[in-house]
Amino acid sequence: MENARILIADDDKKTRDFVAAFLSYKGYHVFQASDGQDALEKIELNDVHLVITDLMMPRINGLEFIKKLKAMRPEIVTIAYSAFANSEMTANLLKAGAFFYLEKPFNLEELETHVKRGLEHQALQNQSFRTKPCIKNRSLLNNIIGESEKMLSLFEFIEKVADSDSTVLLQGESGTGKELVARAIHDLSNRRTKNFVPVNCAAIPDDLLESELFGHVKGSFTGAIATRIGRFELADKGTLFLDEIGDMKPSLQVKLLRVLQNKELEPVGSTHTKKVDVRIITATNQNLEKLVVTKEFREDLYYRISVIPIVLPPLKDRKGDIPLLINSFLEKFNKDKQHKVKGLDKSSLEILCTYEWPGNVRELENLIERLVILKGSGIITVSDLPEKYRGIKTSMVQEPLSLPDNGFCLNSAVEEFENQLILQALHKTGGNKKEAAMLLNLKRTTLIEKLKKKKLFFAGSPLANS
Ligand SMILES: Nc1ncnc2c1ncn2[C@@H]1O[C@H](COP(=O)(O)OP(=O)(O)OP(=O)(O)O)[C@@H](O)[C@H]1O
Ligand SMILES: [Mg+2]
Repeated sequence: MENARILIADDDKKTRDFVAAFLSYKGYHVFQASDGQDALEKIELNDVHLVITDLMMPRINGLEFIKKLKAMRPEIVTIAYSAFANSEMTANLLKAGAFFYLEKPFNLEELETHVKRGLEHQALQNQSFRTKPCIKNRSLLNNIIGESEKMLSLFEFIEKVADSDSTVLLQGESGTGKELVARAIHDLSNRRTKNFVPVNCAAIPDDLLESELFGHVKGSFTGAIATRIGRFELADKGTLFLDEIGDMKPSLQVKLLRVLQNKELEPVGSTHTKKVDVRIITATNQNLEKLVVTKEFREDLYYRISVIPIVLPPLKDRKGDIPLLINSFLEKFNKDKQHKVKGLDKSSLEILCTYEWPGNVRELENLIERLVILKGSGIITVSDLPEKYRGIKTSMVQEPLSLPDNGFCLNSAVEEFENQLILQALHKTGGNKKEAAMLLNLKRTTLIEKLKKKKLFFAGSPLANS
């Protein structure tokens, strides 16, 4: 960004001058502050876009400074550095809203790369939050339902970022619509005429994921009977959606990072590289920042994939959208199933509008589908709602639980409890996994995964494959 204004806060004048001289030479407008307090005062007086700060400073230290700055001017991007930070400090920095953390000593070119990334990130955020709403392509976003403030600013943001090639990280609880949003971003982008290729990193066994992503050559491993292209190549010039990215094992994370950096890949068993042009969208319902701290997720990859972070709100934080969602699901399932359910009566609507929806929109959608099937026509009343929504406490366990004197194995008891409920759900639905998953408020694929893992059999046939 031309004319970007950067403030450097460090009590060590030598480092400060050194960094300032380099950034001025690169064309940035640079200010200096000798500690956090001084920096806050300078920011009040000057228009600053980005702050680079040391962590160890007198009066207000770097972390406190970032917290105060974020409360005062959330749009300012902050990059922190220190020679002493540990993983807990890194986590606190990310939580406080720091954009990047660099360990001292660092390379100035590397610092500039993060400055550029930070400014790019800020430009995208600014476009979204400062300009007036102008949802041009609402029709493409039509299948994402919502009219709450939170959803309207999300639509606007999606529109703004769709055309950029920056990586998008979608975070949010299960069932909040991450996949739906990923598809909408692709459909609104200039890549829309090419493929949108989803890959669920949690559903593909670790040892197959690499070849699934990058392809393989014939004979590279047992079972590689023919040369096959990977999902990256399938998504060439289009979008690759890496779902459940938090589940990717570290060795593959390194390879993915390399592909993202170099824009070229090496199929398994091949010595030749191939160029690819792919826009990456990732999603997870895990806390990636926490996984970075516990070193289960690579920090460098985290920064690579999170240039545009989008957090989808849980349904309980936008309860005003519930009636709209109910109506649109009623319409959809009435049409699909040729039924004529008119709506919900006041009391049942009230119940659903106050419920907390731990399974988010997926849970609501599944409930309406089930109600439409069971009711067929007329108005849904409280007695049609499953017991858990009516607030009637039904215990699955008839006897009160008590821990035997000599203890017992909690893991196997929980496992047994889960197995019994899964089998009951399958029994009730005559082995139909989609309906059984609905009864258990699970995704069909999650149920299938569980059946595979548990090697459960129903009516003599292995369920996982049927
Ligand atoms: N805003 C919304 N409007 C309409 N339908 C929605 C909305 N959000 C989610 N859904 C529906 O809810 C279901 C779950 O959505 P989706 O698969 O996108 O969730 P997710 O966040 O990817 O969940 P998970 O983390 O479990 O994979 C889908 O059937 C989707 O169509
Ligand atoms: Mg999903």
